[in-house]
Amino acid sequence: MTASDAVLSAVSAVSDPELRRPIGDLDMVREVRVDGGHARVAISLTIVGCPAASKIESDVRAAAASVPGITGVDVEVGVMTPTERKALTEKLRDGRPARQMPFGPDSLTRVILVSSGKGGVGKSTVTANLAVALAEQGLSVGLVDADVHGFSIPGLLGVAPGTQPTRIDDLMLPPVAHGVKTVSIGMFLRDGEAVVAWRGPMLHRTVQQFLTDVFFGDLDILLIDMPPGTGDIAISIGQLLPHAEVLVVTTPQAAAADVAIRSGLVARQTGQRVIGVIENMGPYALPDGSVIDLFGSGGGAAVAEALSVEAPVDLLASIPLSPALRIGGDAGMPVVLGDPTDAAATAIRDLARTLASQGRGLSGRSLPMTLA
Ligand SMILES: Nc1ncnc2c1ncn2[C@@H]1O[C@H](COP(=O)(O)OP(=O)(O)O)[C@@H](O)[C@H]1O
Ligand SMILES: [Mg+2]
Repeated sequence: MTASDAVLSAVSAVSDPELRRPIGDLDMVREVRVDGGHARVAISLTIVGCPAASKIESDVRAAAASVPGITGVDVEVGVMTPTERKALTEKLRDGRPARQMPFGPDSLTRVILVSSGKGGVGKSTVTANLAVALAEQGLSVGLVDADVHGFSIPGLLGVAPGTQPTRIDDLMLPPVAHGVKTVSIGMFLRDGEAVVAWRGPMLHRTVQQFLTDVFFGDLDILLIDMPPGTGDIAISIGQLLPHAEVLVVTTPQAAAADVAIRSGLVARQTGQRVIGVIENMGPYALPDGSVIDLFGSGGGAAVAEALSVEAPVDLLASIPLSPALRIGGDAGMPVVLGDPTDAAATAIRDLARTLASQGRGLSGRSLPMTLA
């Protein structure tokens, strides 16, 4: 192998932090020349001047310098032409035409909706932590924040304010937070801007774009944080993803359980399968052994039983009230990472393990439940 071949192969292996593929595969290496011990490498990126571009540049420099015999490196960073960018987006789409939703029934990605009858039961907090826990277990995980009016995923995952998906023409690359690729309407709004006036068609278009124009790549699991209840967005998602699996979140309280049952039954009407119930805000054990039982008990089991109409629906997790879970959410550091021994973190990791152990083909089947 010549010195320039060695530099070429080292440089080609550098990964694009956003596209998560080697830049050689992405046709970003323009030219490699080695003269004596000096390597000159030309790369062309989708855009320059972004954090990803300077990371690629420094990784390329380091990769070239690591080749034995190379004593100096020059890196020249250029921008792709529109034609090159088009070839790149086509390659990323992997033959799939633009504007086609990749999460249809033939997709290998499991789509799991996390829904609840009412707001405030901890659905988003649980979803964000579940996504991170699944990613931690080695799965490729996407998280769509479908709660357009009440979005909270960027904050829960610590996505820095102002972070937007990177655009390559009409393809949007989702930001990655704690190993989870995620998109939320919150990434598209300016400070203080609101979407209060949005109605059905706008909401439908937004969710459709999240699922179609955002490039998630090959995901093992796509989680969708649903808005509470059974409004326009739930109906749109029912149409877009009729084969999705559904997790229903409830508190232990009887009143919460009743509305959770309704939302589970509505999901089923669109053809979606309820695969389990998550009870959140359960009894909290204090260090002195006493237990705070704010929302009572039994709600999760009641919802699971009521939804066990055609096939058994299990209570898959009972997550206790947890100050650490709440604090982690406020800080953008999910408790499963920030305080992994917390009881809520343990329950969510067990839930992630249960879900990860179900293949897509097993979905909807009754599986042994894991309780914390
Ligand atoms: N198990 C829990 N223990 C303590 N606080 C929780 C728990 N789950 C959620 N919370 C808190 O409850 C509030 C509502 O949670 P959120 O995830 O926004 O609910 P939803 O998405 O269902 O509206 C948040 O302030 C969150 O930090
Ligand atoms: Mg929410």
